[in-house]
Amino acid sequence: MRHLIDAKELLPEYVSELITSAEEIIRKPGQYAEKCKGRILATLFYEPSTRTRLSFESAMLGLGGSVIGFSTADSSSAAKGESVADTIRTVSCYADICAIRHPKEGSALVAAMNSGIPVINAGDGGHQHPTQTLTDLMTIHSIKKNLSGLSIGLCGDLKFGRTVHSLIHAMSMYQNNSFILVSPEELKIPDYIRQEMLKQNIRFEETEDLTRSITEMDVLYMTRVQRERFFNEEDYVRLKDTYILDRHKLALAKTDLAVMHPLPRVNEISVEVDDDPRTVYFEQARYGRFIRMALILDLLEQCEGGSLR
Ligand code: CP
Repeated sequence: MRHLIDAKELLPEYVSELITSAEEIIRKPGQYAEKCKGRILATLFYEPSTRTRLSFESAMLGLGGSVIGFSTADSSSAAKGESVADTIRTVSCYADICAIRHPKEGSALVAAMNSGIPVINAGDGGHQHPTQTLTDLMTIHSIKKNLSGLSIGLCGDLKFGRTVHSLIHAMSMYQNNSFILVSPEELKIPDYIRQEMLKQNIRFEETEDLTRSITEMDVLYMTRVQRERFFNEEDYVRLKDTYILDRHKLALAKTDLAVMHPLPRVNEISVEVDDDPRTVYFEQARYGRFIRMALILDLLEQCEGGSLR
């Protein structure tokens, strides 16, 4: 049984296959409109979501399949104390594949270990968000035409931002990428990621200065300060507006910079730059549907042992 739990599973060859498949789906949607007829996707969302849940659901509907699920823990039997393990055993009786988002790190792995169907991690606490990474890789690939030799800036909440952790893992697998990690001291990347980068001889620098470092970047990945993961509101309020990308900062950047954001944004990107052709975050959200279509198809095909008809 194949699952997608960790960005470390996103080997370049696999990513390339999924991007090619997603591009084919964009070109010929009609050919895929019934590929998942009769199959059911379960979306088990214990945490709020707009893009991930709706793009998964839209992806399955676009493949001719059906969708069941819940969008809050309160509307599931988790509210009565049911474990993730028991929930996934039950959902395996009703669906063919599932996407799970949960506030606890490691919960998607627990689900996979107890599941009779493929499990996709749609975000586990501050840990990982591998399908956002697939979306990000498809976006970078479409704009830069490759995934190597890039200077990638990641800015904001690098401590709790799971999309950042997954993207660093994935982009470290390509040749000659380097990272500029921009954050306040309190929101630096977790040490286990720093140690992995050092071990792999990945080039990176850590700085608090976006204005100086933006000039060197090919990609700037802005992130929201993750209010829901802070222990106290005071710290959140103090740190939330540390970085705001506005037209003055963007004026310092390369003319072919790609400004990305997993969304939702709060204040960290001023709406005044939304019309700048270098900002691609809504295009990025659009790719999320197609790459998830490619992923659902691939996992179901592997589960069923052949091409879906
Ligand atoms: N990027 C992302 O995960 O957005 P949602 O929280 O809206 O799903």
